[in-house]
Amino acid sequence: MSNQEEVEVSYDVSNDFFRLWLDEKMNYTCALYIDTDNLEEAQNKKLEWLHDAAHITPDSRVLDIGCGWGADLEYQCNVKGVKDAVGITLSRSQHAECVSRDIPGAEFLVTDYRDFKPTKKFDAVISICMMEHISTPEEVREGKHIKAYRDYFKKAHEWTNPGAYFGLQTILRNRVPRIKQHLVDINWLTYAIFPGGLSLRLEDIVKAVNPYWEIMEVQTRREHYEKTCAEWLRRMRSHEDHIRATWGDQVFDDYDRYLRTCVLGFQEHYQSLAQYSLRRID
Ligand SMILES: C[S@@+](CC[C@H](N)C(=O)[O-])C[C@H]1O[C@@H](n2cnc3c(N)ncnc32)[C@H](O)[C@@H]1O
Repeated sequence: MSNQEEVEVSYDVSNDFFRLWLDEKMNYTCALYIDTDNLEEAQNKKLEWLHDAAHITPDSRVLDIGCGWGADLEYQCNVKGVKDAVGITLSRSQHAECVSRDIPGAEFLVTDYRDFKPTKKFDAVISICMMEHISTPEEVREGKHIKAYRDYFKKAHEWTNPGAYFGLQTILRNRVPRIKQHLVDINWLTYAIFPGGLSLRLEDIVKAVNPYWEIMEVQTRREHYEKTCAEWLRRMRSHEDHIRATWGDQVFDDYDRYLRTCVLGFQEHYQSLAQYSLRRID
């Protein structure tokens, strides 16, 4: 499990750094390129898909586990009319950005989901690429991961009302690279950019949701993540001089290598992306 220090390696380089190359709302996860080639629009399509997957209405009380810089709850509250929402993150700089957005109806907390104790239950949950932080490669090798994922689904079950739905998104690891340099690069980014975590296998989710959530729908979006990462890389490179001057060569070089590796990883089926609609088992 990523601890706070590890999470801050991934997300606390600087809010201004991520603002340069993510979409304007700073979604740091796969966009959904349906009927558009524009990153901003594709991110909204992703958030709309998850809104529908979680069966959110303006009267739903909504939880976002791993809320990033607040893009999802900003969308749910400002576009979809949700009036009561809570977002949790482990990153203090993400939390500062969320609070500064002053989103009516949304509250943000810095907490580990394992310590989160809501005073009131939720009608809907969204969690976008947070589960990757739950188990380390070592824990997966030791076979401890399914229990950890199941505990996460159990908590989400305890925090919700009967009839709740859950819009979930996770990166998947599919095929092991046969080309040595690809293996080296993927291994490097696992430890250097996202320490403490590992993407999941689809079968991990299938095993771990039981007996708490029923899988109603799964969509895989491999090409969409390839396209998202390619666009992040293009935008980041367009600010190369500024990034090198402000945050140093190492930051630019590391993020260039990481985003290149992601584009390749999705192209080569080493990785994929899945979106799920889950229904609470009552
Ligand atoms: C890849 S980011 C995704 C952020 C956001 N959902 C988005 O789509 O842009 C993963 C998020 O999970 C959060 N996170 C990681 N471990 C966590 C934990 N144990 N408890 C709560 N949040 C956690 C991070 O702080 C970060 O906000």
